Amino acid sequence: MHAPVLLKEVVDWLGPKENENFIDATLGEAGHSLEILKKNGPKGKILGIEQDQEILAATIKTLNASDYGHRIILVNDNFVNLKKIVADRNFSKIKGIVMDLGISSWQLQESGRGFSFLRDEPLIMSLAGKKGLTADKIVNYWSKPELERIFKEFGQEKFAGRIAENIVLRRRVRQIKTTLELVEIIKKAVPMNYERGRISPATRTFMALRITVNNELENLQIALPQAIDVLEKGGKLAVISFHSLEDKIVKHFFKAEEKKERVKVLTKKPIMASTQELQINQRSRSAKLRVVQKTI
Ligand SMILES: C[S@@+](CC[C@H](N)C(=O)[O-])C[C@H]1O[C@@H](n2cnc3c(N)ncnc32)[C@H](O)[C@@H]1O
Repeated sequence: MHAPVLLKEVVDWLGPKENENFIDATLGEAGHSLEILKKNGPKGKILGIEQDQEILAATIKTLNASDYGHRIILVNDNFVNLKKIVADRNFSKIKGIVMDLGISSWQLQESGRGFSFLRDEPLIMSLAGKKGLTADKIVNYWSKPELERIFKEFGQEKFAGRIAENIVLRRRVRQIKTTLELVEIIKKAVPMNYERGRISPATRTFMALRITVNNELENLQIALPQAIDVLEKGGKLAVISFHSLEDKIVKHFFKAEEKKERVKVLTKKPIMASTQELQINQRSRSAKLRVVQKTI
């Protein structure tokens, strides 16, 4: 089961009350949604958006087994279509939106799609299943400069050039099909004491591939203005990011919107996990929560 990150903080900032409506733009295993549903009854609803069909199927079961299934509208879509999703469902009077970016523990550990460098799985890494762009298409067909660029830009990987070079050399011999094959190629490209052993040598490359496959940064940039648009005046948007590039996008967007007097930034500094949460949930280490309130 996925342990929702910054759960209490998100619920405290959004402050759900009786009969209010919310959007969970990254439903996942519904950890944040279930907590909001406990507070916005008896008639308040949640519009839950999830791009990954498989995780959504599992979450539907969880929700049906709970007391709250009838108050959540589920949509299998990408949050880049937020405005259209809201309009199509006639969902209104939206008091708050939560976006908990990235992937959930289920995707990492159970999906079999190669998100984890610890498991031997096919290199898919897509939230949309096997269709469209996948990680194996990138490593086997993208040019060396393109590989180097994404490892540098999205992974902030200082050995991007050497990793790209090794990938290209290997694929001349045979296609790279699995996560562990890729991990071995990366390990051979970086020094023995990579990051002084603090993280796996594959961490940054895997992160860059996932971001690229799912177009994560661009999606976020497209969705944030839509989130402000659909909120009611006084409504709040809470975004949890796990990556410095994501956090930068959120921070700059919030600042620019505040300048336009469309929102008030409620968190001058990002909210981070408490020491207590850090001890029990590894994923919370890099989590940053920022919240704005719509003022027009
Ligand atoms: C960190 S998890 C959310 C966990 C959730 N808050 C919970 O407590 O269970 C992020 C979820 O958002 C989904 N997701 C990521 N990008 C998305 C997008 N662009 N549109 C819709 N869902 C997305 C992922 O598939 C994943 O299930």
